[in-house]
Parts: sequence; structure tokens; C-alpha cells
Amino acid sequence: MAPVKSIAIIGAGASGAAAANAFAAEKYFDVIKVFERREEPGGTWIFDAVPPELDLVPGALPYQLDPPLRIPPALPTTVRANTQERFHKTPVYDGLTTNVPEIAMSLSDRRFPYGPFVPHWVPKNYIREHFSVHGHDKLLNLNTTVERVTKIAGDRWHLVLRRHDALLDRDEWWEEDFDAVVFGNGHYSVPYVPFVPGLAEYLLKFPGRVSHSKSYRGPKQFTNQRVLVIGNSTSGYDVTDQLRRSPLVQHPIIQSRHSRSLWEGDEPPDGLTWKPVISEYTADGTILFEDGSSLAHSEIDAIVYCTGYRPSYPFWDAKKNGRDLYDYEANRFAGTFQHTFVPDYPTLGVIGIPRSLTFRSFEYQAIALARVWSGRAKLPSLEEQRQWEVDRVKERNLSHRKFHDVEWDTGETEEYLTFLYRLAGLPLLDGTGLTPPVLDASTRWAIENIRKHPIFRPTRSSAKGGQGEVANEGDWVVVSPWKDSLSFI
Ligand SMILES: Cc1cc2nc3c(=O)[nH]c(=O)nc-3n(C[C@H](O)[C@H](O)[C@H](O)COP(=O)(O)OP(=O)(O)OC[C@H]3O[C@@H](n4cnc5c(N)ncnc54)[C@H](O)[C@@H]3O)c2cc1C
Ligand SMILES: NC(=O)c1ccc[n+]([C@@H]2O[C@H](COP(=O)([O-])OP(=O)(O)OC[C@H]3O[C@@H](n4cnc5c(N)ncnc54)[C@H](OP(=O)(O)O)[C@@H]3O)[C@@H](O)[C@H]2O)c1
Repeated sequence: MAPVKSIAIIGAGASGAAAANAFAAEKYFDVIKVFERREEPGGTWIFDAVPPELDLVPGALPYQLDPPLRIPPALPTTVRANTQERFHKTPVYDGLTTNVPEIAMSLSDRRFPYGPFVPHWVPKNYIREHFSVHGHDKLLNLNTTVERVTKIAGDRWHLVLRRHDALLDRDEWWEEDFDAVVFGNGHYSVPYVPFVPGLAEYLLKFPGRVSHSKSYRGPKQFTNQRVLVIGNSTSGYDVTDQLRRSPLVQHPIIQSRHSRSLWEGDEPPDGLTWKPVISEYTADGTILFEDGSSLAHSEIDAIVYCTGYRPSYPFWDAKKNGRDLYDYEANRFAGTFQHTFVPDYPTLGVIGIPRSLTFRSFEYQAIALARVWSGRAKLPSLEEQRQWEVDRVKERNLSHRKFHDVEWDTGETEEYLTFLYRLAGLPLLDGTGLTPPVLDASTRWAIENIRKHPIFRPTRSSAKGGQGEVANEGDWVVVSPWKDSLSFI
């Protein structure tokens, strides 16, 4: 691999902030540019008061919903502004607070101003300030979308960039080449709505009735309405809870659950009715659930799908780069080592993919990448890196766990961060480079003991439809999948 001297970082969220800091501190790279399509840093934590109006397509994946833009034939150029949906708005809603204690969530060089849980503007301001405090504002290229990433000779990268000029409502397009690229582009932009028989027809029959939590901003949107919420992970839990507590919305709120969440007891709280997964939307608008129960179209005014997101890489030039990047069937980034390095493309790094501690674990990834590309740390052989993925797929299949979920309770987080910590190693004797953070006793204590919502651990007698033992069938029990105590991240 030729020396890496110029780096493009895609995204100015927490991943981009951690990356800019780690690469700059290495004092080795000549060019570091952070490309951010929004008007400011902050990523997921920017609040868009006007929610996106999204066309929902059941079962559709990002390569169908978020295709690449048509690139003008000759660059540089300035053309009419793009009008294609790019999913740039965020899902942040009124009343959203963080759910990870700040001592464990913040980057290690500065804490959030207070904690443990803070309103959404605190992490937004924190990320913005992180760039400024370190003097990295000058690395930022805002309103600039990376539209194409193509591998060129010498493991280098050719980027096609588009800057939106809001004043003239025009798009400037140009090209730049870099030695290495870091993907810190997040993965909560393109909403996912599962395929359900009849849902596509229902969407046409009742326009505006079905939405995704990405467009949820608060109960006011559902004034006097009877609402069905699909999903009970973090978004589903929070949306349901806000609606349930609001006098504006008609009660009870109905929630369709696929599995029991960490925060649920045996019975729903007041103002909430639980239903299982929807099996079908019939032609007359009736909603059928897996237990045979149903809701007539006249019993519901709004449906909110809180069924998560899928990562999108519309800029990845799969044809020229030789392969796709994301395996949507397996729901994982294809061909990574430690969720960070990509053996097939040694000058490509990915930050922010694993479901682990967020900002803090991005920092370990960023420092390890910076150290490897500055030549101050060495990865294992390509063969060993590839074997890591093979072994992990095997292990995850056996344990029925998701590839990028890095659990806390099993010690996985410890192992993962220890690997990155050791790989990065110490800064140089003269202080050049960042020191990877420690996971000290106070941080561990906060992770294990400070909760935004209490966790319900069912007992044999109380458990039904949830984690742990779920049904006593005489001399044997049905056990539903165990959920890690940080699985809500
Ligand atoms: C509703 C919600 C609540 C959350 N709450 C918590 C919480 O309480 N605690 C917690 O730890 N985590 C939480 N998370 C997870 C959150 O995503 C992470 O905390 C973290 O902000 C992710 O940072 P990131 O930089 O990896 O991605 P993002 O914050 O998504 O940043 C990616 C950036 O890349 C930019 N970008 C994307 N594509 C391009 C492109 N082609 N060109 C240029 N720029 C591009 C985007 O505009 C964005 O600014 C929450 C997520 C959501 C959706
Ligand atoms: N700070 C906060 O309080 C806060 C608030 C909101 C979101 N967030 C963050 O936002 C990110 C995304 O969270 P998310 O909740 O939007 O997505 P998510 O965690 O991916 O959850 C998707 C949910 O959809 C459910 N689901 C999928 N198909 C279903 C179906 N057909 N019927 C019923 N349920 C179905 C899943 O159930 P199974 O799990 O059983 O498959 C899961 O509960 C996370 O990082 C989260 O921490 C944080």
C-alpha cells in the first residue's frame, strides 16, 4: 500500500468528528477533508422541525429507495439543484433525550456539559463544538454531498462531489482524488418498512395514514387520532410512550410487537394495548394480526412504522469497484475486519457501523484507522483479517445474533474495544497522536447501573412473550432470544 497522505471523511456526525480529531492528531496526513451534506456538523442529532414527507415502499431497500444521482457528463459544472429525495433529514423529535449515560457516550477528551441523559440539542451542539474546540472547522466542507466513490490506481479513490448553493439554488459539481476514504455517513437515514401482504394497496387506499418514525415529531401530529404503532425497540417504545402520555391523542394507543423489549413488564401500561405482528392488510382495509384478531379500517386513523433503518451507500460505484458493499440479506457490511477495516480495500475505513457504545467506540475505530494509515500500527495479515469475518459469521449464525451487534453482557464490547485499543497503541513519545480511551470503573459502573428506563427481567412464572423463559409447557420451556442489556443502542 502506498503511503496515505490525503484523507476524505464522509459525514460530520460523531463518527466524522472522532475521525477528524484522530487523523489531525496523528500529524502525518497532508490533506484531511470532511464532506458533510448538511449545513452544519451534528449528524443524526440535527433537529429538522419540518419532517420529511417520504413515500413508503414495503420491503424496499436503500438501493431501490436511494439510488445514485445522475452525474453531469462533464465536470466541474454548475447545474439546476437536485430534486431527488436524498434522505438527508434526521429522525430527531421533540422531547428526544439520549439513552446512554453521558460518561460513556461522549468522546473521551470532553464530557457533555451535564448528564446522565440530555436533550437532543446537547449532542448536536457537542459535535459542532468538538470540531471548533480542536480547530477542525477548517476541515469541514459543508452542504457537500459525496455522490460517487470510485477506486483508482494505487488503491486511491476518485470522488465526485456536489455542493448545494442555497442562495442561487444551484448545484456545483466537481471531482477530487484522495489516498484514503473514511465512511462515517451513518445508517439511520433510509427508513425500513417491512413487506406485509396488502400494505402497498393500503398505502394507496389511505394516503397519509401510514408514516415512519423518521417523520415523527411529537403527539401534536396525531391530535384526536387513534394510532397504531408498529415496533417496540427504542423508537417504538419512545413514540408509544409519548403518545400514551399525551392528552391530545385518543387512547388506547395500540402497539404491534414482534418480540418483547427490555423495558416491558407482563402487562402494557395504562393507555396502551399490545398486539402481535400484522399478518395482512385486507382489501377492505382491515388489519389482521398473527393471533387472528383484527382492526377495521374505521378503528384506526394513523399507523406509525417504528421498524428501523437500513444503511445506504448510493455513492459506492459497485461496478467499477468490483463488488457491492452492503449485504442487505445478511444485514451487514460485506468484508470488514473488526467492523472498521476492509481487507479488499485497505485504504477504505468504516466508522459507526457496529451497535455498540456510540461516540466512544467510534473514537477507538478512528484512532486505530489513523494509526494504521500513518504506518504506526500494523494490521494482521489479509488472510487473518478475512478469517475474522468467516469466524464471526459462523459464530453469529450459531448464536442467532446480528453481525454488527457488539454485546455488553457477554464481554464482547470489552474484547472489541481491547482489540482496537491494542492495535492503536500509545501515541509517539513526543505526544503525537491520540491515546485510545480507557473504559474505566466509573464508565463501566454507569453503563451497568444508570438506565433511562428500568429493565424488566421476567421470571419463569411471570414471563410470557418476552426474553428468557417464556412459556412452561410441562417438562420443557420455550425460550425466546435473550437481549443484551445495551441492545437498545
Ligand atoms: C432517533 C435516534 C436517537 C438516537 N439516540 C441515541 C442515544 O441516545 N445515544 C446514542 O449513543 N446513540 C443514539 N442514536 C444513534 C446515533 O446515530 C449515534 O449516536 C451517532 O450520532 C451516529 O453518528 P454517525 O456520525 O455515525 O452518524 P450520523 O450522525 O448519521 O452522521 C452521518 C453524517 O453523514 C452525512 N452524510 C451521509 N451521507 C453523506 C454523503 N454522501 N456525503 C456527505 N455527507 C453525508 C449525514 O448528513 C450525517 O450528518 C440515535 C439515533 C437515532 C436515529
Ligand atoms: N435516545 C433514544 O431514546 C432513542 C429514541 C429512538 C431511537 N433511538 C435510536 O435510534 C436507532 C434506531 O432505533 P429504532 O427503534 O428506530 O430501530 P430498531 O432498533 O432497528 O428497531 C426496529 C424494530 O422494528 C421491529 N419490527 C420489525 N419488523 C416488525 C414487524 N413486522 N412488526 C412489528 N415489529 C417489527 C423490530 O422488532 P424485533 O427487534 O423483535 O425484530 C424492532 O423492535 C437506535 O440506535 C436507537 O437507539 C434512540
